Amino acid sequence: MAIPRSIVALQDPETAQFQILDGADAYISVFDRSFHFGDSLYEVARSYHGILFAFDDHVARLRRSASLAHFEELPDLDQLAQMVREACAAFFARYGNVEVYVRTTISRGVGDVNIDRRGCGKPYAVVLVKDLQRAPSEPLAPQRWVVAARRRNLVTALDPAMKSGNYLNSVLALAEAQSYGADDALMLDHRGYATEGTTSNFFVVKHGEIWTAPLSVGILAGVTRAQVLETCRDLAIPLRERLLSRYDLQHVDELFLSSSTREVQPIVALDGRPVGDGQPGPLTLRIAAGLRARIDAWCQAHAGDSLWP
Ligand SMILES: Cc1ncc(COP(=O)(O)O)c(C=O)c1O
Repeated sequence: MAIPRSIVALQDPETAQFQILDGADAYISVFDRSFHFGDSLYEVARSYHGILFAFDDHVARLRRSASLAHFEELPDLDQLAQMVREACAAFFARYGNVEVYVRTTISRGVGDVNIDRRGCGKPYAVVLVKDLQRAPSEPLAPQRWVVAARRRNLVTALDPAMKSGNYLNSVLALAEAQSYGADDALMLDHRGYATEGTTSNFFVVKHGEIWTAPLSVGILAGVTRAQVLETCRDLAIPLRERLLSRYDLQHVDELFLSSSTREVQPIVALDGRPVGDGQPGPLTLRIAAGLRARIDAWCQAHAGDSLWP
């Protein structure tokens, strides 16, 4: 069983008290709604020098997801922050000062096996802390993507703006990409416009401009996407949020993705054809460096919040 070394802060669905446990010893009920229906919300943040980057932005998005998913309430957010701090502190105490991946899941609750949400208890939180598995200075290998046949969920069906535990749309698109030997998939909406990757936002570089899909097309409002937009403004790189047709994806100069755990990562092939010269492009690398500078500045300003002992 591939269980990573991990620490979990697990809230009791009945009492809302939490325990800090080794990940291998943390269990949830088989009557949990996230297990049966994917009826949960989640966020993933990462640390830099033991400081959780932009955690408040993740909490803000969690609240938006809760509203989109008709969660009547969330666990107490101060207590949630304490669970995150204590789980990280326990991880660092046991494994030393490494960088961590922090996944916060809010299940709608535990109850009888029935889709009617009114019959279950209160939402409760599970915070999972594990290694980020790479040093901050390590560049990520460029990716090779395909355009998936599987379309992104409709906004009116399962709004991709809601970061819910129901990820089968992405799981299946990734499986499709892997069946073609690719690393990941770009997903189109039902009309054929580009949306995002299975777990990342998507950017095109063309004619010296950065193009990305508008939030209205039906994508997750990535915390890193927002940082990339700010980085482009800082660097005076022209940026347009616009619908991206299949035609726009032809003859592009560069492609890249953004996500909290991966920052900016180049995509050097699409549908088996090289993007530009098949190497990470200059604007991608400039934006990646600019984003890292923003993150470093943010972490400097929050140096007192480091959870490293
Ligand atoms: C579907 C999807 N889009 C975009 C992102 C990137 O979001 P963020 O930058 O907040 O990590 C993620 C991250 O998990 C995702 O799952």
